[in-house]
Amino acid sequence: MTAPDIAVNHHADHPGFAGVTGTFFGLVMLIAGRRKARLAVDVAAVSEADHVVDIGCGPGTAAREAARRGARVTGVDPSPAMLRVARAFTRKKDSITWLEGTAESLPLPDGTATVVWSLATVHHWQDVDKGVAEIRRVLAPGGRMLAIERVSRPGATGLASHGWTEAQAKAFAALCRNAGLADVRVSTHGSGRRAVWTVAGLRQ
Ligand SMILES: C[S@@+](CC[C@H](N)C(=O)[O-])C[C@H]1O[C@@H](n2cnc3c(N)ncnc32)[C@H](O)[C@@H]1O
Repeated sequence: MTAPDIAVNHHADHPGFAGVTGTFFGLVMLIAGRRKARLAVDVAAVSEADHVVDIGCGPGTAAREAARRGARVTGVDPSPAMLRVARAFTRKKDSITWLEGTAESLPLPDGTATVVWSLATVHHWQDVDKGVAEIRRVLAPGGRMLAIERVSRPGATGLASHGWTEAQAKAFAALCRNAGLADVRVSTHGSGRRAVWTVAGLRQ
């Protein structure tokens, strides 16, 4: 099967996640990411049996939500500034491990995660094919993959463009199927400016 030729990482060169700017965005995302974090734990049905890997964890909002459900969690992000915010706002230090790394080269062994998710992040990855291959590698058989992105309109600019159109959500789903993930489904949740896509799949 050929994946449609539509870029799903249209903000791969976003410069704003390092240094002081990264810390500022991290603090903003602490609040802005709460709804998405709750959606992620519900859609992925996270429980205490899980090891959740949060790719592009940013300030760690979703990682902490998964830890509240009793899961063991690894948060991965390339930005030391984001990871500093994540560590600073984590009280239950022992259930979450924070690692510097990228989607394209996850610092984790094969088959060790039961859930791998990436929230508002795939549109920033440098290489989506490599990222999806890495998700498949670190997922254990039966493990769940989840990507969440804001719904954006074709031609949107600025902050409103930091998400996916329907075509981009479907293109990402096709990439996941091509990489061998099964039962890949695209859905929307919420409405208006809060609407998001979820793309979920399984490692067989
Ligand atoms: C918009 S923030 C989202 C943070 C968090 N997931 C949330 O929803 O609050 C995007 C995050 O993706 C990270 N990121 C950028 N490129 C990445 C890559 N290639 N692999 C993994 N994470 C990446 C950034 O450092 C940043 O923390």
